[in-house]
Amino acid sequence: MRIVIVGSGYVGLVSGACLAKFGHEVICVDKDKGKIDKLNSGEIPIYEPGLEALVKENVAAKRLSFATDLKGSLEGAKAVFIAVGTPESRRGEGYADMKYVFGVAKEIAPLIKDYLVIVDKSTVPVGTADRVEEIIREINPEAAFDVVSNPEFLREGSAIGDFERPDRIVVGAHSEKAKEILREVYNPLNISKDQIVFMDPKTAELVKLISNAFLAVKITFANEVADLAERIGADGIKALMAMGLDGRVGGKFLHPGPGYGGSCFPKDTKSLEKTGQQAGSNLTLVEAAIKANSGRKARMVSKISKALGGKVSGKNIACLGLTFKSNTDDMRESPALVILPTLAEKGARVVAYDPKGMEEAKRAMDEIDGLSYADSSYAAAEGADCLVIMTEWDEFRGLDLEKIKGLMKGNVIVDLRNIFYKERGKIRELGFQYTGIGVSD
Ligand code: UGA
Repeated sequence: MRIVIVGSGYVGLVSGACLAKFGHEVICVDKDKGKIDKLNSGEIPIYEPGLEALVKENVAAKRLSFATDLKGSLEGAKAVFIAVGTPESRRGEGYADMKYVFGVAKEIAPLIKDYLVIVDKSTVPVGTADRVEEIIREINPEAAFDVVSNPEFLREGSAIGDFERPDRIVVGAHSEKAKEILREVYNPLNISKDQIVFMDPKTAELVKLISNAFLAVKITFANEVADLAERIGADGIKALMAMGLDGRVGGKFLHPGPGYGGSCFPKDTKSLEKTGQQAGSNLTLVEAAIKANSGRKARMVSKISKALGGKVSGKNIACLGLTFKSNTDDMRESPALVILPTLAEKGARVVAYDPKGMEEAKRAMDEIDGLSYADSSYAAAEGADCLVIMTEWDEFRGLDLEKIKGLMKGNVIVDLRNIFYKERGKIRELGFQYTGIGVSD
């Protein structure tokens, strides 16, 4: 099947490469000529494990190509996926800027010749599919088309695996014809078990928002349990793990840390909160999670300060990890963006290192007095009073801690991701003063 994907960002590129691997003929279209030129020369604009190889393999097999021309690309296509950004709008928190999605709808409308399925993959407010349909109808009343909602559930850092082994594929469609085309699109995933859950478009749009919001609430619950456990002298990590063994609860997304970040949870929780408020049906748990998560960074600063004896002023702090999670170069809504400048403002000298996020971090936190960058964990640790683990990169788990100890001036480790939770006894034997999350021993 010939499939066009509009928007070659994170979602568009991963979906395009994976759909091409299924055997479809996929054209990824983007207005940004620079980006398309780079993709055509084999350069991948984002860091996502496995993506570069997957793109190369499918380009070589002539199943995947990149173009700026929507009109030519749509010739003979059965489905077009909208995978453009929906950033926060200038109207404020909770409002998505829909100009890119609606802009694509307006561009597609006059180009529809034969029946076309327009699939919305971007994360959008509930009701967007109906609006896209109206826009297209207004411009081209004769066009034969259906608008379908097909939200994505890809995690950065493991997006290809999530695409290839989904827990479910959510499709919001009214017409049987559209459903049939979506079945064909996802056919390779549907062979052993029917993975597609069909519903109406509005419900599919809601599934996306509530899925992210529920996970954000789950993480926030874990964060608050961890804080409580620290205060009362219990092991919060063990408690959460044991709770998660109950199949009704589930152990995933119960890892406490510096707060959830990224381009999805913060935005989608606020979007759902707004939807609830507008409908007069408030989601109080989601509202509480948003509030708790935003206060979490200040709490982490206090934790670091406490580990350093009550003040950070004049201290050298090495910060390992900057991205909002590991295996990505994405800095959007990363806790580091608040925690590091706050430490620097309070008079600490912060030296930061991240395996993949340095470029993005420097762009986002340029020219902050007291904040500088190092080329490796060891270089960051030199002369430090305290080592803060901010992101759970695997390479930090393998650090030579004796070497780190020799390089540091002080002996404090604050592990905001609990990567050394199991080894904390050994770490203390090496002479470190170790503080994790959710444990007081
Ligand atoms: C999230 C969802 O997990 C995907 O299903 C969804 O498709 C995606 O948003 C999206 O809407 O596009 P992502 O933001 O890439 O994916 O990352 P997650 O792995 O979900 O992590 C989000 C944040 O929660 C990170 O800051 C992470 O460190 C934090 N987190 C996650 C915790 O603090 N504890 C946990 O136990 C899990």
